[in-house]
Amino acid sequence: MRTVGSVTTVPFDDATVRSARRLFDGAERVLVLTGAGVSAESGVPTFRGAGGLWREYRAEELATPEAFARDPRLVWEWYGWRREVVRRCEPNAAHLALAAFAAGRAGVEIVTQNVDGLHARAAHATAAEAAGRRGGRTPGGARRALPIELHGSLFRARCTGCGRTFEHDEPVDARSRERLPACARCGALLRPAVVWFGESLDPALLGAAFDAAARADVCLVVGTSAVVQPAASIATAAHASGARIVEVNPEPTPLTPIATVSLRAAAASAVPAIVGQHENPSP
Ligand code: OAD
Repeated sequence: MRTVGSVTTVPFDDATVRSARRLFDGAERVLVLTGAGVSAESGVPTFRGAGGLWREYRAEELATPEAFARDPRLVWEWYGWRREVVRRCEPNAAHLALAAFAAGRAGVEIVTQNVDGLHARAAHATAAEAAGRRGGRTPGGARRALPIELHGSLFRARCTGCGRTFEHDEPVDARSRERLPACARCGALLRPAVVWFGESLDPALLGAAFDAAARADVCLVVGTSAVVQPAASIATAAHASGARIVEVNPEPTPLTPIATVSLRAAAASAVPAIVGQHENPSP
């Protein structure tokens, strides 16, 4: 056992799982906040850990409006590469367990910092499986499993001219400026519809996330270093409103001291254990 602040963190064991599950059993509303760690076991690189993107690349050269203005070809080349990496990845057991958790009961909101689209793919897979069981009718719960994507998506693009945002999944030809993606409506250059350093998040998405935080009885935080704002404040806002924090991360984070339960564990094993088969909270 290790004590970090006032919270005793224990290796991922049955007693810890049971204490986390009891919190979910008693909760009417659950907010789930995820970061890159939830996708690590799918093969998607994190940002700050070993082999992380910001260890390999310089964020200011690739993930800022200035970088895009300076060299849109280089930025699209990098985002095109990230898109191809993610395309070869599959949602892991944590994504699927969270999708089933959200689809199987009311009051669960998934908010992610990730732009890899794996939560959405897990939600669609869960809906398809449920529709298969129900003879083709997709249950309404499946929509609840779709996440709020705070930082956007690798698979959406936004026009730098008319501002239109839309799904954009085709391969990117970054061999020359002329071949970069252009808007079908106004012809201007498209950019990845992701939040870059120095940019504000979509106020509607951020408002929805903080509203969910204010209502949450429990906030499950999975796979984030909790160092990037305003996303990290969503968990602290939930805690300030009385929510209990459950954290899943192999490493301690700034949120560990306010967590009721902090599992030093990997998402794909711990998350199914603590949210699996929670279709309806016990009365
Ligand atoms: P980070 O790379 O900063 O942190 C990843 C966290 O996941 C770390 O705390 C790891 O310990 C943990 N982790 C690693 N493997 C894990 C596993 N198998 N299971 C559970 N946790 C694991 O990524 P984020 O916190 O998501 O911003 O970074 C936040 C934002 O910073 C990103 O959204 C991105 C980046 O700049 C934008 O794209 C705007």
